Amino acid sequence: MTKTYALVGTGGRARMFYEAILGPHREQSRLVALCDTNQVRMDYTNKVIVGELSGEAVPAYRAADFARMLQECRPDTVIVTSIDRTHHQYIVAALDAGCDVITEKPMTTDREKCQEILDAVERTGRSVRVTFNYRYAPHNAALRELVAAGAIGTVTSVHFEWLLDTRHGADYFRRWHRDKRNSGGLMVHKSTHHFDLVNFWLGSRPDTVFAMGDLRFYGRANAEERGVFTPYTRTTNVEAARNDPFAISLTDNPVQQGLYWDAEKEDGYQRDQNVFGDGISIEDTMSVMVRYRNKAVMTYSLYAYAPWEGFNVALNGTAGRLELTVHENSYINAGSSPDTEGAAKGVRLYHFPMHGEPRQIPIAHAEGGHGGGDKIMLEEIFGNAEPRPGYGADHRDGALSILTGIAANQSFATGLPVDVKTLLRL
Ligand SMILES: NC(=O)c1ccc[n+]([C@@H]2O[C@H](COP(=O)([O-])OP(=O)(O)OC[C@H]3O[C@@H](n4cnc5c(N)ncnc54)[C@H](O)[C@@H]3O)[C@@H](O)[C@H]2O)c1
Repeated sequence: MTKTYALVGTGGRARMFYEAILGPHREQSRLVALCDTNQVRMDYTNKVIVGELSGEAVPAYRAADFARMLQECRPDTVIVTSIDRTHHQYIVAALDAGCDVITEKPMTTDREKCQEILDAVERTGRSVRVTFNYRYAPHNAALRELVAAGAIGTVTSVHFEWLLDTRHGADYFRRWHRDKRNSGGLMVHKSTHHFDLVNFWLGSRPDTVFAMGDLRFYGRANAEERGVFTPYTRTTNVEAARNDPFAISLTDNPVQQGLYWDAEKEDGYQRDQNVFGDGISIEDTMSVMVRYRNKAVMTYSLYAYAPWEGFNVALNGTAGRLELTVHENSYINAGSSPDTEGAAKGVRLYHFPMHGEPRQIPIAHAEGGHGGGDKIMLEEIFGNAEPRPGYGADHRDGALSILTGIAANQSFATGLPVDVKTLLRL
């Protein structure tokens, strides 16, 4: 049976979904509508659909006409790939109209919006799927299976650091994410992936969170202090920015030109802001301690100006230790094929049994974005792959994954630990 989809938010990430629907999964899926605040971006999307994917142009609705779109096009499922702070509006309205929802991460940005989503799921009985692609990356799946099989006994602590480099990491400081109201900061926007992985690996949920975070590298004040301040607000076609390694030029990349440069006249959104400019309200240097319901504790850090992109994680248990290091392909959004975004370049997973010889666990290489997780997840969502039990993330997983970041943001502000139970009814 063919399933029908409407897509809201036609920026960089949308492509992975409409390519899947119009490409390998076209027998089972049909895209019936697009929705966005920006007509130029919707027109660009239709141009790609017709010109590159040999599809038919899809009706395009302005964001203000979302309810009319649902009525006229009657999608089974709404796919939400708009900016983070708007996800809840579309999720709740779609559920209330009787649709299921597939949403990009983070499910939303704060606890009030999260509660609205949880209430809507309960009220309507419809489903929300959060696209946690990293769960499906073979190395992350292997870690989960090893823990579940008891390879290290009971997990007692986790040490996790994620590095965003000066290409991919810097991109959050050029775009809408730099305003914390849009993204919840990197603790929510980015770390939702990482906190979800820990919940998924441990089969537990966060109880107490204590965190410190600051803006130490990007932003005008830091640049002035280091004597590297550059006075331009944006970087495309700016002569003075020509040799700035943090500058991007939207007119050098046809996708970025079509999606952002040409669309700018409509909403004024500049996708190439100076990372050393004013108006950045997110952190770039963050450390978090979490105590989980199963009593495991985690030390976690994220910084966004690293010389390489990827992560190190160690899980310690009563019978040994697992260590995973992954180097990822760095990228900037809509700057290359979605297949290369965060692809795994180097993976090392070691098992250190408490009394035995350490051994390296072989990991099959998976092609594609986000450690190979994107393709495997898409096959499960749109294709015929049998769902892997415990891998598909729902509204509860979406909520639990942002709770750590929301609590961390609160802890940044107050200097105090946060009891996660006080944040949401879940
Ligand atoms: N899972 C992943 O690995 C992954 C990777 C990239 C992006 N994402 C997520 O995808 C989402 C989109 O990110 P992106 O990189 O494509 O950003 P983008 O800036 O390229 O696109 C965002 C789109 O949302 C639209 N928009 C803004 N306000 C809107 C509103 N009120 N109503 C409807 N549309 C609105 C914009 O016009 C734009 O077309 C984000 O939530 C992001 O976290 C997830």
